[in-house]
Amino acid sequence: MRVQVVIVGSGPSGLLLGQLLARAGIETVILEQKSQDYVLGRIRAGVIEQGAVRLLEEAGAAGRLHREGLVHDGTEIIFRGQRHRIDFKRLVGKVVTVYGQTEITRDLMDAREAIGATTIYEATDVSLHDLTSDQPTVRYVKDGVTHSVSCDYVAGCDGFHGVSRRSIPEELIQNFERVYPFGWLGVLVDQPPLSHELVYVNHERGFALCSMRSPTRSRYYLQCRLDEHVEDWPDDKFYEELSRRVDPAARANLKPGVSIEKSIAPLRSFVAEPMRYGNLFLAGDAAHIVPPTGAKGLNLAASDVFYLSQALVERYRKGSTKGLDGYAEKALARVWKAERFSWWMTSLLHRFPESSGFDQRIQAAELDYLFSSEAAQTALAENYVGLPY
Ligand code: FAD
Ligand code: DHB
Repeated sequence: MRVQVVIVGSGPSGLLLGQLLARAGIETVILEQKSQDYVLGRIRAGVIEQGAVRLLEEAGAAGRLHREGLVHDGTEIIFRGQRHRIDFKRLVGKVVTVYGQTEITRDLMDAREAIGATTIYEATDVSLHDLTSDQPTVRYVKDGVTHSVSCDYVAGCDGFHGVSRRSIPEELIQNFERVYPFGWLGVLVDQPPLSHELVYVNHERGFALCSMRSPTRSRYYLQCRLDEHVEDWPDDKFYEELSRRVDPAARANLKPGVSIEKSIAPLRSFVAEPMRYGNLFLAGDAAHIVPPTGAKGLNLAASDVFYLSQALVERYRKGSTKGLDGYAEKALARVWKAERFSWWMTSLLHRFPESSGFDQRIQAAELDYLFSSEAAQTALAENYVGLPY
C-alpha cells in the first residue's frame, strides 16, 4: 500500500489531522493499536478552547459539539472555604466549551467514516523505517499478517507511550520532564453538576475539581497519593472526601451516585525537542504532556495539528516545505506557554507533600494576589481560554 501520509494513533490528534488532510484531498491511513471500542471507552479531557472548536468546525465534526456542548463564561476557585469567580468573558471576551474528549473522538470517527478514509484498528507491532529518506515505510501486524505502507510523511500521533517518539535516535532528541508527587482520582457519575460552572478547589486535604459532561453527568477529581489504587476508593469514601474539600453551597448540591468510571492519572510535565525527525512529525501527547490542571492537553494537541495540517497542505498544494521546516519551532513555542500555565495552575492549587511552611505561605499569597488583582485574573483567563494560534 502507498499513501501520502501515515498517521500513527487514532486519538484526538490523529483523527483531527486525518480529517483536515482528507478534506484537503490528501490521502492518509490511520494505524491504531487498540480496538475502536477501546479508544471510545477512554474518559479524559473535557474543556475545549475556541481555537479547537474552530478546527473541529473546519474538520466538519462540530455539529454535535454546538448542539450539546456547554458554553462556560467563567470558572470558580474555592480557597479557605471562599469562592472566587474568574469571569473569562468579561476579562478577555472569550469562553470555553465543556464537551467530552470521548464525544470529540466519536464525532471525528464518524466524520472519517463518512469521508471514506481508512483507519486500521488493532494494528499491532507498528514500526517506522527509513524516516530520513523521501520514502519512509511503516510496518504493522493485523490478524497475524505483516503489512507495509510506504508514504511521504509519518505523523506520530500515538500519545506518550507510542512508538513514534521512541523511533527517533536518542542522541537527536532531548526530553524535559517534571513528575509531580500526586495523582488525580477521577469519577464519572450520572448526577447533575453541583454548580453551573467548573469549581477548582485548593483545600488543606488536597486539590479537588468539580467538572461536568452534560446537565445530567458530572466529572469529579480528587488529588490522591501515587501509591493509592482505585479499589482504595469506594464511591462512599470518594464523596465523603469530596464534600470535605468543597464549600457548604457545593456540599449542599453534591449528589452522590454510582460511579460509571473511576481511574487514577499521575501528573507529569514533559516536552520532547525537536518534534521532528526527517519525515516524521510528532503531534499531541507523543511530544508533550501537561498536568491536567490547566485543561490544556487536548487543546495543545489541536494546535499542533493546526500547524502540521497547514504545513502539509502547503507542501502538497504549492510544493513548498517551508511550513514543514518551521513546524517544530512554531509548535514548541506554543507548547512551552501551555507547559508554563499548566505547571503554574498545578503549583497554585495542589498541596505538595514536601512543601515547607514558607512554600505554603507563598502559595496562599499567590492566591490572595490572584483574587485581588484584575491583571492576574486576566492573565489566568487569557491562558485558560487559550492563546491564539
Ligand atoms: P492520545 O489520546 O493518547 O492518543 C494516542 C493514540 O495512539 C491512542 O489511541 C493509542 O491507543 C494509540 N497508540 C499508542 N501507541 C501506539 C502504537 N504503538 N501504534 C499504534 N497506535 C498507538 N487532558 C485534559 O485537558 N484534561 C483531562 O482531564 C485529561 N485527563 C487525562 C487522563 C489520562 C489518563 C490521560 C492519559 C490523559 C488525560 N488528558 C487530559 C490529556 C488528553 O487526554 C491528551 O492530551 C489527549 O488525549 C492527547 O491526544 P493525542 O491524540 O495526542 O494522544
Ligand atoms: C476537566 C479536566 C481538567 O483537567 C480540567 O482542568 C477541567 C476539566 C474534565 O475532565 O472535565
